[in-house]
Amino acid sequence: MEIRNVHDVDVHSKYVLLRDDFNVQIVDGKITDTFRIDASMPTIKYLIDNGARVVICSHLGRPKGRFNPELSLRPVAEYMNVPFIDDCLKKDFLLDMADGDVVLLENLRFYIGEEENDDSFAKKLASGYDIYVNDAFAVSHRAAASIVGVTKYLPSYAGLLLEKEITNLTRVLNNPTRPLVAYIGGGKVSTKIDVLKKIVKIADKMVIGGAMGTTFNYALGLPVGDSLCEKDMVGTVNEIIKLAVENNCGLFLPLDKGVGKDFDKDAIRENRDADKIKDDDIIMDDGDKTIARNIDLLNIAKTVIWNGPFGVTEFGKRWGKASFDFARALAEYTKQGKLESIVGGGDTVAVLDTCGVLDDISYVSTGGGAFLEFIEGRTLPGIKVLEK
Ligand code: 3PG
Repeated sequence: MEIRNVHDVDVHSKYVLLRDDFNVQIVDGKITDTFRIDASMPTIKYLIDNGARVVICSHLGRPKGRFNPELSLRPVAEYMNVPFIDDCLKKDFLLDMADGDVVLLENLRFYIGEEENDDSFAKKLASGYDIYVNDAFAVSHRAAASIVGVTKYLPSYAGLLLEKEITNLTRVLNNPTRPLVAYIGGGKVSTKIDVLKKIVKIADKMVIGGAMGTTFNYALGLPVGDSLCEKDMVGTVNEIIKLAVENNCGLFLPLDKGVGKDFDKDAIRENRDADKIKDDDIIMDDGDKTIARNIDLLNIAKTVIWNGPFGVTEFGKRWGKASFDFARALAEYTKQGKLESIVGGGDTVAVLDTCGVLDDISYVSTGGGAFLEFIEGRTLPGIKVLEK
């Protein structure tokens, strides 16, 4: 699919409504992870350098149409050092803008019309601008007013980040250097069924980790103790295993697990083989043999896709071991030029950030849900409306 991009239009002296995804975590007014904001900078810089008057809009959290000071984008404006407009439908400030100026609007989702893609909200939002640029890949799977609705009222283009996401992910999905090894972790099989079904068709090998791995092991008749496990997913897991066999995709499940007796970051960690999990064991990470096997598999990979952590990473080192060790190894193999690595998903990107290896990965997607839907092969509504 060919899409219109920001290079296709003269932005000089134009009022540009730029949609970014600044849905970042803010704790006590402080942004804890600036990755998405930083990734948006090339388009902002391009627009400034070309004399546009740039008005950025974004959502933050899920305020459901109500003002909520904790979900204000003001801290983002402070981080970017740009003026902040406290209502996304205000227009009076436009008159004071000069070429190359940038401002940030308040959270779009303080209006219910944003998520509902309400036409009159989209029209009001679009009014006063000459051009719309979507650089918010991470929310392009939502048919929101600022993603889809405004394109009815303004000439619309993709920003550089959106273009980069599409190019990189499309290349890896359609034409990867093989072998392609996918590592999929996270909590629930039920949220990734379509991704897993797609991956077994395109990958040479698929590694399942984390709580998802527990559910797979359960489907094979292995004990899971007192752990998070989707017991009603057995049928789906069997379907995925069958698809993997049919498509000649090697499936790698957890060999052992890191278990504790309480769901607590300070719980004592023991390593337990997958067939020896006790009734009162709580699985909170992949085990040491699994970690070693996962890292060893990197030796045969030329392309790696990783989505979803392998343990309770928010509990820190003890229960994030499988994810942290893997992140460091993946970064090292990438740095040494042995493979190309593609990572997506908020929690997985947070692992890279914690390990200080974000810059060592070949491509880190800003998308969470959007990354997964793109991999599934769906056409994201925000991309479809930019089609040439
Ligand atoms: C994300 O963080 O994945 C996007 O910003 C989308 O947010 P949403 O799931 O609240 O629509």
